[in-house]
Amino acid sequence: MSTLTERDQKVIWHPYTQEKTAAPPLPIVRGEGPFLIGEKEERYLDAVSSWWVNLHGHSHPYIAEKVYNQLLTLEHVIFAGFTHPPAVELAERLLTHLPDQQARIFYSDNGSTAVEIGIKMARQYFYNQDKKRSKLVAFNEAFHGETFGAMAASGDHDFNRAFHDDLFDVWRIPAPVDQQRTQKALEQLEKHLQTGEVYAFLFEPLILGAGGMLMYTPAVLDQLIALCHRYDVLCIADEVMTGFGRTGTTFASNQLQEQPDIMAMSKGLTGGTLPLAITTCSEKIFAAFLSEDKLKAFFHGHSYTANPVGCAAGLASLDLLERASTQAAIQRIIEQHTGFLNKIISHPALRRVQQTGTIIALEFATPEGTSYFNDLRDRLYYFFLERGILLRPLGNVIYILPPYCMTEMQLNEVYLAIEESLAMISTAATTA
Ligand SMILES: Cc1ncc(COP(=O)(O)O)c(C=O)c1O
Repeated sequence: MSTLTERDQKVIWHPYTQEKTAAPPLPIVRGEGPFLIGEKEERYLDAVSSWWVNLHGHSHPYIAEKVYNQLLTLEHVIFAGFTHPPAVELAERLLTHLPDQQARIFYSDNGSTAVEIGIKMARQYFYNQDKKRSKLVAFNEAFHGETFGAMAASGDHDFNRAFHDDLFDVWRIPAPVDQQRTQKALEQLEKHLQTGEVYAFLFEPLILGAGGMLMYTPAVLDQLIALCHRYDVLCIADEVMTGFGRTGTTFASNQLQEQPDIMAMSKGLTGGTLPLAITTCSEKIFAAFLSEDKLKAFFHGHSYTANPVGCAAGLASLDLLERASTQAAIQRIIEQHTGFLNKIISHPALRRVQQTGTIIALEFATPEGTSYFNDLRDRLYYFFLERGILLRPLGNVIYILPPYCMTEMQLNEVYLAIEESLAMISTAATTA
């Protein structure tokens, strides 16, 4: 009989995979806490929260029960012209965690779409007021997702090369990761704003994720947002990765003095169980769509908008996130990361070690730079898998983005494997 992998290889096309040369996918049949478990009970410690979605561990019984009950009560209903309790309750509860200015919740079902909706909201906000503004500003190294708008907003990533000619023009500024680039970012942003053509500035707050886990401070972001607001330009925070505790606060934007006008989130929204996303906005933006003129409405919606089962999962995940024990776990992970950072910060094989909240990133000092297609990436990926740890380097950047249920001992295992990888790389460099 064929194995699961053999059957997979006949019918499945996997994401972000060169199917000709990639190793076959690993079959996973169960999840338990921070572990992914294979057919022969082999265990992988999920140190990247399965593409940054998982908060409380795999197959969490509390979320599973709430999802099951919701499935038996109301599995789905069209969300145009109808509403339901989980959507309203989740919106009410999320608003208590968001910066004060956020007032309205628009549901969708993945991070790219949440960003795309934010861009459309901002653009139409001005259009509805007969103001002509057609330019978006974003960071050079940004990553905002897979759809055309999100690809356009993302930086010049090699993997989007086939579509470059089709992407709308987005004005760029450098990510403000050091003093020099902060200065440049502020200057270039102001130049763009002075044209009067910009409708919004879109950013990943505090950490540019897929661009290489590049980190910057709330104080700098406050300056950029304040500058935009001086020119009446909207600010869109893409919290798809940073949301739900990753940066130490529920949202990265909670660390700001200035407030975004629009926010996008997904990934951790359901604790990593079901696809759901939201785009939130201030009352000012919502008000710009109210009119006797039907054409001023926001004509956007998906079949599964505000799916009740997804919303029930979101509520259950929020229950768990609000627990004192989860908040304590987040603080413990932050402290443990800081200890590890101090231990390895001067390692000669590393160019950069940075931490924001529960995310720690290490950049190897490779001559090739940070290309996603860096050879080192594959070596490291399999090095960790052989040790039962799932880490998925971005080029020559390794990062840990753990679910909050990962214990002190389990996290120490991840650190140890990373230290072994540093020794492996250093030995390879001296023998080369
Ligand atoms: C900051 C950010 N925005 C948007 C996305 C796209 O989210 P999704 O993969 O759910 O479409 C990602 C995905 O990694 C992300 O990191």
